Amino acid sequence: MERSEFLEHLARSLEGVDAWQAGWEPFEVDASLMLEPERVTEVMSELVERLHENYPYFHPRYAGQMLKPPHPVAMLAYATTMQINPNNHALDGGIATSRMEREVVAELSAMVGYGETHLGHLTASGTIANLEALWIARSIHPGKAIAMSDQAHYTHGRACELLQVRVVTVPTDPNGRMHLGELDRVLASGEIGTVVVTAGTTALGAVDPIGKILPVAQAAGARVHVDAAYGGLFALLAQREEPTVDPGPFNAFRECDSIVIDPHKHGLQPYGCGAVLFRDPAVGRYYQHDSPYTYFTSDDLHLGEISLECSRAGASAAALWATLRCLPLKPDEGLGLVLAKCRQAALDWAKLLDRSERFRLVVEPQLDIVSFYAVPHGAGRPRASQISRLTDTIFHRAMEDTENPLYLAKLSVKDTQLSARDPKITWDEPTVSVLRSVVMKPEHAAMIPTIHATVERHLAGIEE
Ligand SMILES: Cc1ncc(COP(=O)(O)O)c(C=O)c1O
Repeated sequence: MERSEFLEHLARSLEGVDAWQAGWEPFEVDASLMLEPERVTEVMSELVERLHENYPYFHPRYAGQMLKPPHPVAMLAYATTMQINPNNHALDGGIATSRMEREVVAELSAMVGYGETHLGHLTASGTIANLEALWIARSIHPGKAIAMSDQAHYTHGRACELLQVRVVTVPTDPNGRMHLGELDRVLASGEIGTVVVTAGTTALGAVDPIGKILPVAQAAGARVHVDAAYGGLFALLAQREEPTVDPGPFNAFRECDSIVIDPHKHGLQPYGCGAVLFRDPAVGRYYQHDSPYTYFTSDDLHLGEISLECSRAGASAAALWATLRCLPLKPDEGLGLVLAKCRQAALDWAKLLDRSERFRLVVEPQLDIVSFYAVPHGAGRPRASQISRLTDTIFHRAMEDTENPLYLAKLSVKDTQLSARDPKITWDEPTVSVLRSVVMKPEHAAMIPTIHATVERHLAGIEE
């Protein structure tokens, strides 16, 4: 969408809301809210100036963390709805946007295979969505522990602290996935109420073998919660005739008890949009609470009756609703196409890194995170400290190149994670720093040869 079209749409939809508001009895905006136009100009100029301090998340040369701007249609819908500022806690606070929320949640549920009988809603974030799923898990299995891999997102540990649930950590295999043998051992204790699996770990983008974990967890009487905050939408690629991700774990989603997906990661949404889905709507009973000051306009379900949070932005629901109208959750169109480009970018880059003499992959990318490291020239047994130094130098030189900067991220990897894949590393330090890149913009696909040439050039320029 061209900028001029975006601005036209924005003006038209804001005017549309104005027209609705103008239909009500006119009133004077209170003097306390009035601002001098010069003051607004001044403040907004300062804001724009200060925003320049950011890295260019919008640009394919930013290939660091999970960051990118929302789709323009999400911005339009958000800005338009924000003018009314509905609150999806209760139908009295956000009638239209609560309905939109239920529609998008139904679409996400259909994508994961839950079908009609799901329960779910949007949340402020993946952290809150996971906290909520673990809160329900604890309510179902009070006194039992929660098992998760050593690669699970750090916020699960915090959530368990809040919920006062014991965590049992399951080691991962050399690909960063939950180790099945170790999980068997943990489940044999009989103490586990829930297994948290991750579909796309934050560090490596590893996808736990969910299809294999499910039957053993179920046999041990444990629930399975999927943290698919980052990787959930890759389910679309698993549904393709020729899947470009391993379909096994994604096909198992439908049997899992709860799933978290963050539309504000791969769903092109502004921050403030996570989602939690439950397979069994009967978990709704754990949410029962007394709220004598709300829920009085309708006997229909108010989303606040089935969510941990109280106020939630109706604008978030509207933005996701509009986005899915334009870019549906389909394997070969809409968001499926966007995800396919990102996946392709990761595969293409991995191929180039694999072919190069001095770069090595930490793991084969399973989604669209690429992690790799450089080894010193001619070093038969590179030391971990040498690799970390190369990582650091490439990271800084790439970012500080004023002509053609490239923004990457770094990751600290333990010897236990990497030694099986690269037995030649001499571990003079217990961890090694590697380069990590989330190629989560579809434009990355065309940019990979340039990105790769850039890291090669910076490596070649390092005097050892
Ligand atoms: C796998 C995973 N889970 C949970 C989270 C936390 O999500 P949020 O940042 O939306 O709170 C992240 C964030 O990167 C993540 O990658």
